[in-house]
Amino acid sequence: MRGERLRQPRLPGKRLAFERHSSEGTATVQSNHDIVFLKHFSMVIGALVCVAIGLILFANYLYGTAPHDSDPAKQAQVEARIAPVGAVYAGSTGKAAMAAAADAAKAAAGAQVAYGGTLDGSVIFGQLCTGCHSSGANGAPKLEKAAWAARLPQGEATLIKHAIDGYTGPDGNHMPAKGGNPALSDAQVEATVKWMVGQIK
Ligand code: HEC
Repeated sequence: MRGERLRQPRLPGKRLAFERHSSEGTATVQSNHDIVFLKHFSMVIGALVCVAIGLILFANYLYGTAPHDSDPAKQAQVEARIAPVGAVYAGSTGKAAMAAAADAAKAAAGAQVAYGGTLDGSVIFGQLCTGCHSSGANGAPKLEKAAWAARLPQGEATLIKHAIDGYTGPDGNHMPAKGGNPALSDAQVEATVKWMVGQIK
């Protein structure tokens, strides 16, 4: 054992275990092991590098699919959209701006179609007018003859006009224009008033 060890030249970097068991055969097996290890090790490193590159490419792709706010045209669009809410109104110019914003909102709401555009007065009444006209809330006339005795003689056209434009009666009770829903068309209000008049008993 000792003699073998002495015969073996000291190789720098070789491990003690290798020196101790060294004979021609084990040395070859050992260096084969090193080569195999090196091969596997570089394969693992290579695989990890591939994974890293893959992750970088994937992250790059994900970043590309996400929406970016850098487009100035889009930014302007968003700002225009939130302007009435996000802007600060102060003083008399602010008052005018608020009025303009309210008008714009009203016009936008008016452009929409209420209750699917139905001209069935019972549906519209059931969705909106009933809130006041079934309970008599705020002094609204219920669908009873007594409540309408003084109103019907005005004629249907006036009732319709009052329902469309809004109306404050002699007692100071207020009928909001279109029942408070500007999305209703004039024709829808007219149909509803006609339906209401037909229901009065
Ligand atoms: C927020 C409550 C409210 C809602 C909702 C409402 N009304 Fe009225 N309505 C009133 C009040 C209050 C009066 C009575 C005003 C008065 O003193 O003459 C009235 C009166 C009326 C009159 C009689 C007007 C006149 O000249 O005497 C008609 C017609 C009418 N409403 C139709 C409708 C229709 C149609 C709807 C649904 C689209 C509706 N109302 C929804 C509160 C409401």
